Amino acid sequence: MSKVTIDTGTSRATPSPVPGKRMTVPSIRARKAEGKTEPPLVMLTAYTMRMAQLLDPHCDMLLVGDSLGQVIYGLPSTIPVTLDMMCAHGAAVVRGSWHALVGVDMPFGSYEQSPEQAFANASRIMKETGCAAVKLEGGEAMAETIAFLTLRGIPVIGHVGLTPQAVNMLGGYGVRGREDIEAEKILADARAVAEAGAFVMVVEGVMEQLATRISKHVAVPVIGIGASAECDGQVLVTDDMLGLFERTPRFVKRYDDMAERISKAAETYAGEVRSRTFPSPDQTYRPK
Ligand code: KIV
Repeated sequence: MSKVTIDTGTSRATPSPVPGKRMTVPSIRARKAEGKTEPPLVMLTAYTMRMAQLLDPHCDMLLVGDSLGQVIYGLPSTIPVTLDMMCAHGAAVVRGSWHALVGVDMPFGSYEQSPEQAFANASRIMKETGCAAVKLEGGEAMAETIAFLTLRGIPVIGHVGLTPQAVNMLGGYGVRGREDIEAEKILADARAVAEAGAFVMVVEGVMEQLATRISKHVAVPVIGIGASAECDGQVLVTDDMLGLFERTPRFVKRYDDMAERISKAAETYAGEVRSRTFPSPDQTYRPK
């Protein structure tokens, strides 16, 4: 007898393997009440089915970030990331998760032209992946698009502050909001994104004082990355926090050194293959 529990809160077609409901847009939004989010929301990036399975029980949200351009594909930035990439990885992450809300990034060039272009591409992402929300970068300039999507049933995660798709305009990935004029603009962006209907927003790479102001002035949960502990939640690129890359940005804490551990495992395997100690009788098929 199957022990699968039907999660009627989400879908009859994809029953959850364990009791409990997937986080929803209203349940995430409701976590910020009277200006406070306790406990803070937990978000990590995921790009593959297996990683999603491992992260899912610990996270409120999984983000299929366009950072997969650099992390998975070795691209120099997120600019070349395509809708096909986001759809393939988004679908894998949805298949590997049952608890966290899955959000998928809209890649550069797939939403900026017009609200109609954004709707066509966001609906494709939702149909092909089964995700609950899309994320797009930009503040006041994107408010009309965010309103257009949310009024038509597409939940939006905003992203302001350091917006990596604008790297060519910004000239790099440095912290934003050091100067008052820039800080005021980012605060106005955050307000516009929330007022347009985003149910949660990422604030990336800003000074602590600005992160505090945004979290106070904006009604929806603010998820920080390089934006201090003053936010309503945190997100990191999983591969960074696992220590898979040599270079770790200042705002990242390494919770493991997986690059070292994978390299050691591969070295041991290579040595055993070369010395013919692998496979041993334990891994060999012989007549009983
Ligand atoms: O693409 C991504 O992974 C992101 C996070 C860093 C927030 O946008």
